Amino acid sequence: MQKISNRIYSVGVNDDDKVLFEGLWPLPYGVSYNSYLVVDEKIALIDTVEAGFEEEFLENIHSAIGERDIDYLVVNHMEPDHSSLVGYMLDRYPQLRIIANAKTLPMLQGYYGTPQEKVLVVKDGESINLGTATLSFHMIPMVHWPETMVTWLAEENTVFSADAFGTFGVVGEDITDNEDTFELYRDEMIRYYSNIVGKYGIPVQSALKKLSGLPVERICSTHGPVWEKNVSEVVALYDKLSRYEVGRGVCIVYGSMYGNTAAAADALAIELESRGIPCAVHDLAGNNAGELGISGALRDVFKYDTIIAGSPTYNNGIFPPVETFMRALKSRLIKDRRFYAFGSYTWSGASVNQLNALAQEMNFELLGSGTSFAQAYTKDKFNASAIADLI
Ligand SMILES: Cc1cc2nc3c(=O)[nH]c(=O)nc-3n(C[C@H](O)[C@H](O)[C@H](O)COP(=O)(O)O)c2cc1C
Ligand SMILES: [Fe+2]
Ligand SMILES: [Fe+2]
Repeated sequence: MQKISNRIYSVGVNDDDKVLFEGLWPLPYGVSYNSYLVVDEKIALIDTVEAGFEEEFLENIHSAIGERDIDYLVVNHMEPDHSSLVGYMLDRYPQLRIIANAKTLPMLQGYYGTPQEKVLVVKDGESINLGTATLSFHMIPMVHWPETMVTWLAEENTVFSADAFGTFGVVGEDITDNEDTFELYRDEMIRYYSNIVGKYGIPVQSALKKLSGLPVERICSTHGPVWEKNVSEVVALYDKLSRYEVGRGVCIVYGSMYGNTAAAADALAIELESRGIPCAVHDLAGNNAGELGISGALRDVFKYDTIIAGSPTYNNGIFPPVETFMRALKSRLIKDRRFYAFGSYTWSGASVNQLNALAQEMNFELLGSGTSFAQAYTKDKFNASAIADLI
């Protein structure tokens, strides 16, 4: 528990144990599920935390408000990492009213059997008075679910932003940021965005436009630090990511069964590095401990303008993890990238042409027809220097 301002308390939890977020995304630094109390004449709780943290959550609440009742539970976002203790809270605080919008209501009923009379349905822009402060609710559909809204506490220029501006990584004793926090979390924030929100660049742009009218001085997101000193930096990063804006650099993404495609990837990375071209390499077959796999690859696709994909030919097609990566690009509406494909085969190469075809579906600029080589990697079959010349 931490007091953030005269009215706001952070009562969320850190999760160090979960291995894969949403069953997909590795968590080398853990994740936090943030929840906030706004304490006034009336008390509002904003979002809950994931099931499994009941005791810690309740302790945090008690150490902030003792035995006082909670009047409202605002559900900004229904993804169960934030909503799965709604029923638990209703059991403990029977007078609690849930504040939700019309799209949230059927989800509450479907997940938790929440009775309708417990729910106060609010419309876009509506507000409730807590005494000296007001909370107003603003829909930001598809960031990243259809029911998502943010809650604005005007008296403190604070936005409770749901997953927007969130990041992987647990929070320290002090959840509020300092001068170094943004740089510390930056990569994990991009990874969170690219993995989870990346498909919804257009809705994020609409949300940013909507929020731009508010004098935001504090962002309380559902994951990661509370942003006070880096508000403009995190908003600028979200703006950049949702416009799919990238810098010059190469993301080499490959899979390999027996190391031949991997050897070509390594040779290319060495060549690019020797030329000072920013370059990230991701092995999707998971041969390297600590590899973030597709999760890290997607992060770097949101940083760099060039994607180089390597896949052996596998049953006359693309090696499955690399094909999954290509589909993940398509589903995130990735655009304006330069592309090059390579890979080893044994009797009849097919992966490179198929990678190029997928890249063309996304209107990527092909930097060449790619390099498909038979059996082992050698410098003659795979000319890293000639490929680097194309970058
Ligand atoms: C299950 C399996 C399916 C394969 N299918 C093909 C194929 O359809 N065409 C082909 O030329 N080689 C095929 N190969 C051979 C690989 O493409 C070849 O071994 C390649 O060198 C592997 O590259 P790597 O060392 O990067 O894994 C297949 C290999 C395996 C294990
Ligand atoms: Fe979410
Ligand atoms: Fe979340």
